[in-house]
Amino acid sequence: MKQPVRIAVTGAAGNISYSLLFKIAAGEMLGADQPVILQLVEIPQAMDKLRGVAMELEDCSFPLVHGISLHDNPFDGFKGVHYAMLVGARPRSKGMERADLLEANAAIFSEQGKALNEVANRDVKALVIGNPANTNCLILSRNAPDLDPSQFCAMTRLDHNRSQGILGNKLGVNPSDIDGVVVWGNHSPTMYPDLHNATVLGGESVIDQIDEDWYKSEFTPRIQKRGAEIIEWRGLSSAASAAQAGLDHMRDWALGSDGKIVSMGIISDGSYGVAKGIYYSFPCICEFGSYQVVKGLEVNEYGQAMMKKTEQELLEEKAAVDHLLPAETAESR
Ligand code: NAD
Ligand code: LMR
Repeated sequence: MKQPVRIAVTGAAGNISYSLLFKIAAGEMLGADQPVILQLVEIPQAMDKLRGVAMELEDCSFPLVHGISLHDNPFDGFKGVHYAMLVGARPRSKGMERADLLEANAAIFSEQGKALNEVANRDVKALVIGNPANTNCLILSRNAPDLDPSQFCAMTRLDHNRSQGILGNKLGVNPSDIDGVVVWGNHSPTMYPDLHNATVLGGESVIDQIDEDWYKSEFTPRIQKRGAEIIEWRGLSSAASAAQAGLDHMRDWALGSDGKIVSMGIISDGSYGVAKGIYYSFPCICEFGSYQVVKGLEVNEYGQAMMKKTEQELLEEKAAVDHLLPAETAESR
């Protein structure tokens, strides 16, 4: 049996975590042979609810769970963690402007970045799910100068999975028969779901099988606004699908993506002409516990304009929180 790994989950009493924690505990993230210690982090006001969730985890009697601890601050909760799933974030309240939301979350993710820097395992992999995920991730990473910016990711896997699911339905194929979907940029309505390099059933081009008007006028806005569509119908933000995407992202990052392209919000190194130093979603392949950007994909003029638009939004978000960011390191420049 392997040694247990430590996994921190913030927002552990919230909706996404209510699905995510039970999947992790069942071995769906790191495999059926990987014991886990769950370090659950919440705000002080949610500790009673968290206690209830922990009781349910205990009652499942999961063989892989070698420990559960509850924490009301990240400096305790992140001690020695190998994986951090950062789900908790400040939601937008009535009358709150986007800039206020960015600032409120900047305070949370600055503290969590400092905590990871100080107490996490030096090889920690951290995934930001809480919105605005890409800019929260930037703040997190910049507050953890002793860790490499590549140890942090923002989650765009839900947008990737949504693209495969909706496309599979349109083409009448299983989503697992589709490869090469790429979601570029920000986890926001400016994201660019790119099907130009996607193939189905081992080689047929997807773009040749769909109508351009459907792609640009129906599919693209549907993916971009899917989160809002779900909130409208369900009355709540997506939770089970977000948990599944978080699990998929972390599993592939840790164990490999089997040669398949996955979309990950990662620190830009300038690939595809994207400004360096922002967390932007790129096509990646994961192997041996790390990711590589897939280079050389063709991006047409339409795609380049879409990529610029979402990059611009991320640069604006960065500018809005710049005064709260510690000085840039050489790597984040
Ligand atoms: P929720 O409101 O049900 O739960 C959030 C939990 O986070 C709450 O229990 C809250 O107490 C906790 N929390 C708040 N601040 C915290 C802090 N500083 N430390 C620890 N815990 C804290 O929300 P949810 O439905 O679970 O969604 C969580 C976040 O994920 C939201 O920001 C949502 O917008 C985002 N989200 C992102 C994606 C994505 O694809 N990236 C998809 C769906 C939802
Ligand atoms: C989603 O894509 O489902 C969420 O990011 C929506 C949200 O605002 O929580």
